Amino acid sequence: MGVTYIKNIKGLTGLSDPQKPLRGAQLNDVQEAGDAWLLIQNDRIHAYGKMSAPPSGMPEPDEVVDAAGRFVLPAWCDSHTHLVFAASREAEFVDKIKGLSYADIAAKGGGILNSARRLQQTTEDELFDLAWQRLQELMQLGTGAIEIKSGYGLSLEAELKMLRVIRRIKEKAPIPVKATFLGAHAYPEKYREDHEGYIRLLLEEMLPAVAAEGLADYIDVFCEKGFFSYGDTIRICEAGAKYGLKAKIHANQLNLSGGVQAGVKTGAVSVDHLETMDDETINLLASSDTIGTLLPTAAFFLRMAYQPARQLIDAGCAVALASDFNPGSSPSGNMNFVVALSCMQMKMLPAEAINAATINGAFAMESQTEVGSLTPGKRANLIITRPMPSLEYFPYAFGTNLVEKVMLSGNFIRQ
Ligand code: NIG
Ligand code: FE
Repeated sequence: MGVTYIKNIKGLTGLSDPQKPLRGAQLNDVQEAGDAWLLIQNDRIHAYGKMSAPPSGMPEPDEVVDAAGRFVLPAWCDSHTHLVFAASREAEFVDKIKGLSYADIAAKGGGILNSARRLQQTTEDELFDLAWQRLQELMQLGTGAIEIKSGYGLSLEAELKMLRVIRRIKEKAPIPVKATFLGAHAYPEKYREDHEGYIRLLLEEMLPAVAAEGLADYIDVFCEKGFFSYGDTIRICEAGAKYGLKAKIHANQLNLSGGVQAGVKTGAVSVDHLETMDDETINLLASSDTIGTLLPTAAFFLRMAYQPARQLIDAGCAVALASDFNPGSSPSGNMNFVVALSCMQMKMLPAEAINAATINGAFAMESQTEVGSLTPGKRANLIITRPMPSLEYFPYAFGTNLVEKVMLSGNFIRQ
């Protein structure tokens, strides 16, 4: 803590502090200053400027970092993860390589219900230790704010257990953490033939209990054919709104599910996934305040078509990027790879991808006054890269870890 002076920065990025998520052409401007300095006081960004006009009137810095040849970026804001889970699922990964379908895997007891079974058998302390370990790894990779969902509980007790784990992470982590109640992730075995029964359990028992303990910031629904319909999604989001929970929805991963329409109608903060879109849905999203959160590593891992990022951006949608870290469809929370993949496979420009993974990610979890840009007064959560020829080199050299140092709340946790 104290005062840290970072000098000789080749490129200081993320300097704009927009009042709304970036969209259209704005997304391609990372507001970069060359040959710059940055001053951090305690856990906050204090000031920045050009080396030609060094800071004056500040106390002697406790720490001086020479960032010659290096870029400084806001830490990643990962607005969609399932960080709390009991066990990895690499056996399903191998089955998929051998050609088994999603339905075959589900029939073998795999998928979300597999994770739910394992989670129900795991104690709160064990779940916390596992998730905490994963978070340490992500912070080393530059993640400086995170949203975490429940949804592998699928019973009253197990959903509460998951959300209590997230609350413990929130209390202990040096970064902002948001919690999302995703009871509507799948129908548990017991309710396979009684979907209405599960939705009533969710609305009448789970949601009031979650709200009574103040365990969630948001409500989420997996709006997908065979899971929760458009009508179910509206009903669940409206019930959440009565408890002050805004929606963040799993929408249009596999089908034109109506998830985007449900999100726009209920004023969702974000609709996430969006692999399957048509022009009408893209235009509807573009005309709304709802953010479209793209999760390219899920499409990558499942060998599916990527999200149509170019059309979404060109139509004027506000897009964010997130990792979807989960054991089934994206067993990686590495935001550096998310950014690189977005450029390589979705034709996002490097600046667009960086903005989508920082300031727009912050908006997608309503943490934009705290993180997402290097604005004086915001939390000092940032990445110092290894020496690089240009900012574009960062997603280009995708297999190399270019994150040299990570500062979170004013402390270097990696150096
Ligand atoms: O966001 N789409 C639904 N849920 C998760 C993955 C579920 C799982 O297989 O565990 C996702 O991709
Ligand atoms: Fe997800």
